[in-house]
Amino acid sequence: MPPFAFFRGQIVPLEEAKLGIMTHALHYGTACFEGIRGNWNVEDEQLYLFRPDAHYERLLRSCRILKIKLPYSAQDLCDITRQVVERCGFREDVYVRPLAYKSSEVIGVRLHDLEDDFLLFVAPFGNYLDVEKGISCCISTWRRIDDTSIPARAKITGLYVNSALAKTEAQENGFDEGIMLGQDGHISEGSGENFFLVMNGQLVTPPVSDNILVGITRQTVMQMAKDELGIATVERSIDRSEPYVADECFLTGTAAHLSPVVSLDRRPIGNGQIGPVTSRLQALYFDVVRGKVDKYRSWCVPAFPKPVPSP
Ligand SMILES: Cc1ncc(COP(=O)(O)O)c(C=O)c1O
Repeated sequence: MPPFAFFRGQIVPLEEAKLGIMTHALHYGTACFEGIRGNWNVEDEQLYLFRPDAHYERLLRSCRILKIKLPYSAQDLCDITRQVVERCGFREDVYVRPLAYKSSEVIGVRLHDLEDDFLLFVAPFGNYLDVEKGISCCISTWRRIDDTSIPARAKITGLYVNSALAKTEAQENGFDEGIMLGQDGHISEGSGENFFLVMNGQLVTPPVSDNILVGITRQTVMQMAKDELGIATVERSIDRSEPYVADECFLTGTAAHLSPVVSLDRRPIGNGQIGPVTSRLQALYFDVVRGKVDKYRSWCVPAFPKPVPSP
């Protein structure tokens, strides 16, 4: 079965979804996007889309910043997504990539007086980082771009040059991921993940005002930590040297899931192994996103109609 896309208002085979080379968003980075996971549950034979409503509410907030007007509500976008994922029929973990973009084919850098459109595609997608062994990170020499330059709270395509510089620098220097500091020297986030420390039995994460994407996994993990494990999260600025003395560290993101960080700048974090709080949170997180925890089942939207029970 060929994969399908949503393009110019319809579901079409992916190979028919082609943009013109003059498209504004391609030249000026004037688009915003999301990444939504579909997590395959073997026992249920079901693909669960994780919190698509939260992703589309964030997409519509990003659109407000970029002056993109879509003729769809968050619920419409959830419905479109479910339909495309169902048509694709993948029976494995997938990644859904929605994009709201300046679609006019004109020259001239601006946000106003342009047409907007929306597309999405679906691709099979396994683990992005090593969630089992833990990853090594470095503090990037690239600083996180400030809210007064390009707002990180909006998932704007043009902003991701900042992330790409940090990611490539980290990988070419032998690390898995780069952690960016903001202009003031506090830790902001990874190239595509939010940053957490475990210190004295609490989670510590940068506040939304430290130039982060306000992650849906970040919020999910904070809620689960509090409600299921009784662990509070402190949202406060984190100094560059604090991870060196922290007990544990991990990253969160739709692609990254909950990825333990076992070293930073070639220094072990804690004892250099995946810590107990990180392990417990990660196990809970994987059960929740695969639709295995009844209490959080409303976060998991089944992509396929429920099988009809045999008579
Ligand atoms: C820069 C950045 N920070 C954080 C995240 C994590 O956000 P979420 O958990 O909503 O995927 C992402 C991924 O989307 C990202 O690109």
